[in-house]
Amino acid sequence: MRHFLTLKDFTKEEILEIIDTAVEIKKDLRSGVYKKELENKTLAMIFEKSSTRTRVSFETGIFQLGGHALFLSNRDIHLGRGEPIADTAKVISSMCDMVMIRTFEHSMIEEFAANSSVPVINGLTDSYHPVQLLADYLTMLEYGVEKDAVVAYVGDGNNMTHSWLMLAAKLGFELRVATPKGYEVDASIITEALEMSKESGAVIKVMNDPKEAILGATVVTTDTWASMGQENEKEQRIKDFKGFMVDGLMMCLAARNAKFLHCLPAYRGQEVSADIMNEHSEIIFNEAENRLHAQKGLMVWLHKQNGK
Ligand code: CP
Ligand code: NVA
Repeated sequence: MRHFLTLKDFTKEEILEIIDTAVEIKKDLRSGVYKKELENKTLAMIFEKSSTRTRVSFETGIFQLGGHALFLSNRDIHLGRGEPIADTAKVISSMCDMVMIRTFEHSMIEEFAANSSVPVINGLTDSYHPVQLLADYLTMLEYGVEKDAVVAYVGDGNNMTHSWLMLAAKLGFELRVATPKGYEVDASIITEALEMSKESGAVIKVMNDPKEAILGATVVTTDTWASMGQENEKEQRIKDFKGFMVDGLMMCLAARNAKFLHCLPAYRGQEVSADIMNEHSEIIFNEAENRLHAQKGLMVWLHKQNGK
């Protein structure tokens, strides 16, 4: 059973196959063609955290493929009041064809997957957000910046950063990560990324100086300073992340015509200035829309992989 929990479980070729599938699906949609590749299939979507993009893109995506989505918040199902993860996984996977989960601890999704008889997709955990990176790479491809990319991630060492590390390490591009002191990425994930880079030729650099990271970068990206579940730390983080906002001065250091990506939701005046959001709005909202196409590609690919 192939699940989609982190990018590290996939080869470069497989990631590119998923992206190719997404490109085809997006092309079809633009010409009004809806291939019902998941007709009569159901996708259970378990949300233990909020979402705009992930929910709308998965629900719309499975519908466009001929299937149906079930939105299950932890207020509605027994998981939220103590039914074991393993029991929930066995029950849901006995009736549905795929499961998408957004949750806190990554171990929850691993336990669910271990007990599921159908593919499980990570829709964000505290550790990783791999579906977002499929959309981000699709966007890089569309804007022609995937070749010899030098990506600068400036901000919190979080689930997005970890997934950028995995993508760079697998596909073999340069990634510079700048976080404030005390907000570095998980050391074990850096070790894994460096190990994988030996094969792909990726260049991974971690630092605490955002300007050093952005200098000459062809793609600049960031994410919220306080992720879901860290709301109480927001005020402290705003102080600790001083000097890390991606603004016009910062973007001046990047390569000419550098692109700016943001997974959204964005907090203007914190991790990014309103000016930079406005200047790069076309690519940012394409990136958001690409969640739909990338995840349709992923669901079709996973379905085929699992021999159905
Ligand atoms: N980028 C992203 O995952 O957005 P949502 O939290 O709105 O799903
Ligand atoms: N790091 C953010 C990403 C939101 C899409 C969070 O986990 O809240």
